[in-house]
Amino acid sequence: MKELLRELREKSLSAIDGTNTAEELDALRVQYLGKKGELTAILKQMGKLSAEERPVMGQLANDVRAALEEKLDERKAYLAEKALEQRLATEMLDVTIPGEKHKMGHRHPMYIVLDEIKSIFIGMGFDILEDREVELSEYNFTKLNVEEGHPAREWSDTFYFDDDSRILLRTQTSPMQVHAMESRELPIRIIAPGRVYRKDEVDATHSPMFHQIEGMAIDKGVTMGDLKGTLNEVVKQLYGSSTVTRFRPHHFPFTEPSCEMDVQCHKCGGKGCPTCKGEGWIEILGAGMIHPKVLEGCGIDSTVYSGWAFGMGLERLALRRFNISDLRLIFENDIRFLEQF
Ligand code: PHE
Repeated sequence: MKELLRELREKSLSAIDGTNTAEELDALRVQYLGKKGELTAILKQMGKLSAEERPVMGQLANDVRAALEEKLDERKAYLAEKALEQRLATEMLDVTIPGEKHKMGHRHPMYIVLDEIKSIFIGMGFDILEDREVELSEYNFTKLNVEEGHPAREWSDTFYFDDDSRILLRTQTSPMQVHAMESRELPIRIIAPGRVYRKDEVDATHSPMFHQIEGMAIDKGVTMGDLKGTLNEVVKQLYGSSTVTRFRPHHFPFTEPSCEMDVQCHKCGGKGCPTCKGEGWIEILGAGMIHPKVLEGCGIDSTVYSGWAFGMGLERLALRRFNISDLRLIFENDIRFLEQF
């Protein structure tokens, strides 16, 4: 029996040293010291011993139990510490490591210009209207005095959705004039920025999708002088007070008289260069006094009210504002380009 206790002591102590987890350790505790454990099994044989041997063996068995318990506790503490160390190592948050830098984006150069234009017009008492890009040809053309057979209505110029040429992607923001007249009380002062679509090939100055800003003011006694004064002021606020402009006569079906507005070329100062195609001037918008037929078609008495309207190309304004040479750069979303603004 003495031999058995010695063996148990030896093998259990080394087994405890070999454990790596608290679960393994618990299993050993049950195996050696549990009710059905190995030590208990040995103690059950005490009955066979003589009265003299019994206390000696009892003492020995108690020593083994005490040694085992001590060893189990020791190992338990050791494993707990190791587990903690491991957790600290893996879950460690090192506040001294430099943070990861996130790249911040910013507004697209064209929208920077749009925001500037919006705030100039808001400062003059205009409202901003943003609306549909899919239009009825009635609004894109007919109500704007663009009759059947007008070249702008050609399939080769316009994206239609149906064979009857009734629904289309708007080719201009001018239908917003009609929507504003039909839905608003007079007087009206609005600008309406947005995308427009034409069947154009992509090149340095063309894209099948581009942006326009429509503008319109209707009130009693509004004249061409108001149109020129307003647009000159806008361009000066946008490009600087020394900007030189000119108005040339033109034709649009929905304005009479009509004009185009040019700004002097920023590259050559009016001498003529590749940017202005040798002209010295760059056209930025079409405009005019709203045709009486258009006013009357929207239920406005053209003998009492008059108004002006304009439509400008937003990309072109952005090109000039930031000295960009090619329209395609605006749409390519190349980060090396966009980062410069
Ligand atoms: N809609 C015209 C265009 O796309 C521009 C314009 C707008 C002209 C308003 C006059 C008045 O060319």
